[in-house]
Amino acid sequence: MDPRSLIDDLLEITVVASFTAPGFRVRRRLYAWEAPAPDALRDRTALVTGPTSGLGRVIAEGLASLGARVVLVGRSEERLARIRDELAERHGQDRFPLVVADMSSLASVRAAADRVLATEPALDVVVDNAGAIFPERRETEDGIEATLATLVVGPFLLVGRLLPLLRRSRGLVVSITSGGMYTQGVRLDDLEWGAEPFDGTRAYARAKRVQVALVREWARRLRGSGVTVNAMHPGWADTPGLADALPAFHRVMAPILRTPEQGADTVLWLATDPAEARPGGRVYLDRRPRPFDRVPSTRLSSAHRRALWDAIVARSGEPDPAPAV
Ligand SMILES: NC(=O)c1ccc[n+]([C@@H]2O[C@H](COP(=O)([O-])OP(=O)(O)OC[C@H]3O[C@@H](n4cnc5c(N)ncnc54)[C@H](OP(=O)(O)O)[C@@H]3O)[C@@H](O)[C@H]2O)c1
Repeated sequence: MDPRSLIDDLLEITVVASFTAPGFRVRRRLYAWEAPAPDALRDRTALVTGPTSGLGRVIAEGLASLGARVVLVGRSEERLARIRDELAERHGQDRFPLVVADMSSLASVRAAADRVLATEPALDVVVDNAGAIFPERRETEDGIEATLATLVVGPFLLVGRLLPLLRRSRGLVVSITSGGMYTQGVRLDDLEWGAEPFDGTRAYARAKRVQVALVREWARRLRGSGVTVNAMHPGWADTPGLADALPAFHRVMAPILRTPEQGADTVLWLATDPAEARPGGRVYLDRRPRPFDRVPSTRLSSAHRRALWDAIVARSGEPDPAPAV
């Protein structure tokens, strides 16, 4: 075994050191990471959801710096336009089209996907980043619990509709998950918190667990298509989202939180399509695949993953985008 992997694995067991800035710095030094070449994504097109804040913002900036055209997908046209103007100014050209989409609304996601299908001939990278924690249980206009709708069903619909563009370029999907998913299993009988009393933080972690299970299922179903689907988790990064959702955690951890750039590093590395990131279906932290589970209670059998897939397809209101063969 490579001794570096051993050090990395020991670091991972600590959780706190692994998820914070020290973990990032140790791994960067341990593996002597190199920055992607400045034009690594020239002539490529990427799409990022939630580029108006936190990680999404630095991901959009990072993709733009690597030369990509970046489709900015967010729910506020005004906030998107501000980011587009900043990017255009910094990079000296406007290759940053805006697409308005509220990821919690099926109609909005459908319209956004249609717009992208009409304007982009192909997509090389899709970053499923938009996310939020909901303190109270509420349902969206589609009657879906809002956490599941925003973190899972909306992104699932978006990726499904954009599949023809991804196939064309043998593209890559990266879903941003959370280390919180290690604490939660999936309750197939109560995906929307109808039975159990609602807890926003657990609902978030559970939705992230669902998202990762779907990433594995996407990868299995798209095997041989050329499309790669992976998840990554950023550790704990100092973003407006983290400060708003978990203020006490943010206050205590502030001195050692990652910068958003450190949190987003693996997304940009994956976007440059390193050979070791294929064929996909993995969850990464700091440029290395990590386990899906830390405790047996979160494990999902392949039959359960298939049932979960079907449950999300049913909620998306569309035919199965990648039927199992
Ligand atoms: N920060 C961390 O330590 C951490 C850890 C684990 C995972 N993550 C994940 O990383 C991703 C980014 O989080 P962040 O910390 O950067 O949070 P953030 O600063 O709050 O940014 C979240 C982004 O998602 C967008 N968004 C939220 N709800 C949306 C909706 N319904 N439709 C469209 N866009 C929506 C926001 O848009 P608006 O500007 O319109 O609000 C914003 O651009 C999330 O998936 C989060 O779960 C973060």
